[in-house]
Amino acid sequence: MLLEMEQLGGEKMRKIVGLLVCFMVMGVLLYRPASSVDGETLFKMKCGKCHTKGGGAPIFAPVKYASSQWKRFFQREKHKRKKDISSDVSEKEIALIKEYLIDHAADSDRPIAAGLR
Ligand code: HEC
Repeated sequence: MLLEMEQLGGEKMRKIVGLLVCFMVMGVLLYRPASSVDGETLFKMKCGKCHTKGGGAPIFAPVKYASSQWKRFFQREKHKRKKDISSDVSEKEIALIKEYLIDHAADSDRPIAAGLR
């Protein structure tokens, strides 16, 4: 028993510790906090910057359009014709906002009439 522990304390133990350190470093490197901002928050934050009282653009809610209309709006980048917002909102954020608007469009299961203020 004592002999085993001694052996473990040698080469094997060093290997185990080495592996553990490896895993810890990998864990730190690979760790990405789950995205804490969702589509709704982004919609209010990013789109609400202009689409608000005194913001220069009309206030609207997801129910303003049916899901197919929202899809077309984003697919054809219709906003660009009104105003280029690519410097305000990233592609990733647009994707989340699009999802939110479609999920709560006029013909969706959970239409949301109030969005921005
Ligand atoms: C930098 C300011 C700005 C930002 C940010 C912005 N918009 Fe706009 N938006 C405008 C302006 C200006 C118009 C044109 C208003 C008009 O025609 O009178 C417009 C028009 C629109 C329209 C068409 C008008 C309507 O009410 O149907 C929609 C839909 C729209 N924006 C959605 C969005 C969405 C979704 C976001 C977020 C991804 C967003 N906008 C972010 C400024 C902005």
